[in-house]
Amino acid sequence: MHSDPEDGDASDARAESELLKLIFGFRFSQVIYAATRLGIADLLENGAQGSAQLAAATGTDVHALTRLLHALTHLGVVAEVAPGVFGLASLGRPLRANAARSVKALTLASCDDASWRSWGGLLNSVETGQSAFQHIFGMTIFDHLAEHPELSANYHEASARDTSMAFSPEVLTRLDCSRFHTVVDVGGGRGALLSGLLRANPAMRGILFDTPAGLAGVCATDRCQVVSGDFLESVPEGGDAYILKYILLDWSDADAARILANCRRVMPADGVLIVIELVLPDELGSSDRYTTTGDLGLLVTTGGRERTRDEFAALLKSAGFELSSITALSEDNDVKAIEAVPT
Ligand SMILES: C[S@@+](CC[C@H](N)C(=O)[O-])C[C@H]1O[C@@H](n2cnc3c(N)ncnc32)[C@H](O)[C@@H]1O
Repeated sequence: MHSDPEDGDASDARAESELLKLIFGFRFSQVIYAATRLGIADLLENGAQGSAQLAAATGTDVHALTRLLHALTHLGVVAEVAPGVFGLASLGRPLRANAARSVKALTLASCDDASWRSWGGLLNSVETGQSAFQHIFGMTIFDHLAEHPELSANYHEASARDTSMAFSPEVLTRLDCSRFHTVVDVGGGRGALLSGLLRANPAMRGILFDTPAGLAGVCATDRCQVVSGDFLESVPEGGDAYILKYILLDWSDADAARILANCRRVMPADGVLIVIELVLPDELGSSDRYTTTGDLGLLVTTGGRERTRDEFAALLKSAGFELSSITALSEDNDVKAIEAVPT
């Protein structure tokens, strides 16, 4: 008979306690989200404040806000420096809008009603294999963003911040774009990657392509054209390189192949396609954070998925490309530049 060496009351109690932390984990993200919506970290930037003062500034119920502040104290976001007086603690600092490593836009984009309800539909996604977001809202997340400019602004600011942090000049050098005349950034958002590439390569030109909502507030420059459209229909001509950073992961194989085929159609025979994404290892370990959170996030929100090298190769082949190389962009993460050429 199988006997577990850890069997017994003590290990069961430990397991129960660990599990309860996970079961109630959803409360923590809403505590942080509510505080972020209220701008608590920004309000405390210049020093501690009493809960009555904070309630007046945020238009909230003082008793309920104090309860929220106590929960935030427990999490290490704020500290109660005197009875009823709260200052910023270490975990609260990145929640400020102007922090160098601000996660304010990310928090607002990731924990809002749309994400919250999508994750609430995870079971439906697992049962059907389809995006919970689409099931609940009856549209794609990108159509939803187009209807909600404030959420869209947070989404794009969070993407741009992530790019600016992760794509240092040294990382951009690894993309070796000096060999290109014109780079088209397909689904380039507000242009964080392309502007870095243009700075690093003074002779290069760029075309930033995204939806009208994705490009809100973005202006063309001398060396960068801005074009709006739908990459499921077509992409702009004129590039000798087409970059898709964090694009294919949002789409099913059929839609991803359609986007790639639209690039293939307008690319010169000697053009280069660069897909920048995480490449899953062939054998996924259970400790891989993407298997537990990021990949499921794609399932519930966009219906997309992360892919292995072989899956990228097959997808590229189906759209008329041959995978030619995979380059690691950083030692800190698994994001790679996957290059492909037209067949
Ligand atoms: C995950 S974001 C990546 C943004 C940017 N490439 C980056 O890495 O920061 C996906 C981008 O695809 C754009 N997008 C979504 N659907 C699109 C469509 N049908 N046509 C063009 N762009 C689209 C979004 O607006 C968004 O900017």
